[in-house]
Amino acid sequence: MDELLNVFDYERRAAELLQPGPLAYFAAGAGDEWTLRENVSAYRRWTLRPRLLRDVTNVTTARTVLGEDLAAPIIVAPMAYQRHAHPEGEVAMSRAAGSFGTIMTLSTMATASPAEVAAAAPDAPRWFQLYVFRDEGITRSIVEGAVESGYRAIVLTVDAPYFGRRERDIRTGWLIPDEPVVPALAAALGAMSTTSVTEHFKLISPALSWRDVERIASQARLPVLVKGIHTAEDAVLAVEHGAAGIVVSNHGGRQLDGVAATIDTLPEVVEAVGEDVDVLVDGGIRRGVDVVVALALGARAVLVGRPVLWGLAVDGADGAERVLELLRDELALALGLCGCCSPDDVTRAHVARAV
Ligand SMILES: Cc1cc2nc3c(=O)[nH]c(=O)nc-3n(C[C@H](O)[C@H](O)[C@H](O)COP(=O)(O)O)c2cc1C
Repeated sequence: MDELLNVFDYERRAAELLQPGPLAYFAAGAGDEWTLRENVSAYRRWTLRPRLLRDVTNVTTARTVLGEDLAAPIIVAPMAYQRHAHPEGEVAMSRAAGSFGTIMTLSTMATASPAEVAAAAPDAPRWFQLYVFRDEGITRSIVEGAVESGYRAIVLTVDAPYFGRRERDIRTGWLIPDEPVVPALAAALGAMSTTSVTEHFKLISPALSWRDVERIASQARLPVLVKGIHTAEDAVLAVEHGAAGIVVSNHGGRQLDGVAATIDTLPEVVEAVGEDVDVLVDGGIRRGVDVVVALALGARAVLVGRPVLWGLAVDGADGAERVLELLRDELALALGLCGCCSPDDVTRAHVARAV
């Protein structure tokens, strides 16, 4: 195997290994995939303003996020159906995140139960991503399962009242097989049957409103982060309705094509909510320098999606962990070269708009 030196190498290798159906599902964006590309390319419109002569002998990437001490401000984003990337799926991802020293966010649409994933890394902090089902009883029992298995926060995804139109999926016609089982769907449907992702999403409630956010935040017994925020206005509403954190996200360009790159949305959200809550961002992070830009623009941490999925596809838990390490090492180097000894030293003055 050629040496895999960066996230793009892992992406290429994963594309060689995966079957066309799952590959299209993992890689796809909505519509023309403009937002998908923008998420990545928008980082190139920010330049770094390093400060020099600051004694950077000791550089750490460690950071505390919502009370959790992490090896780096890099968290594993929730992603569905991971056993179609690698037979060990979410269990391997959980081991990777745990041994790296970060949080794994488990998707509602996982191909493993919250308990199995918790058992794979019992000491690691973990978050649970929630899709709200039309059937309230199902949603309640999913949240209870996550609480019982020691998940420490709920990441409530609010940008998917409908499933984005992803033409790559339509072209391959990939159907999610009934095995491996998606426990949440099996509970909602009685039993799994082979069907499309679009059909699965018909179980998710399009009626979700701010009242529900408030209800979930007050009943969950866990902090709730609202994921999928695109505007200052909604960020303020999220805080007013009980969010403990905000994830600026466009679902990796998979929902509404035409929305801005998340890194360009982050500043207005940070400005709107100030220091009230932690603001996280995901979408398009492929390099350690991207993490520096996100920190400079006010993110407490970033989530990464596809990069760790490519790592998982290439080499299971080891591959996913290696990708996290690559990003961490790139981040450490970028911090040192920017004159920062830790993520806490990064300020707004460390970036400028590219001219
Ligand atoms: C294959 C795949 C599946 C995803 N599944 C979910 C999901 O179940 N729930 C969710 O909130 N977000 C989901 N997302 C969105 C990610 O959590 C995250 O927002 C996005 O991947 C970040 O962009 P990046 O892939 O460029 O890092 C998914 C993304 C991908 C690529």
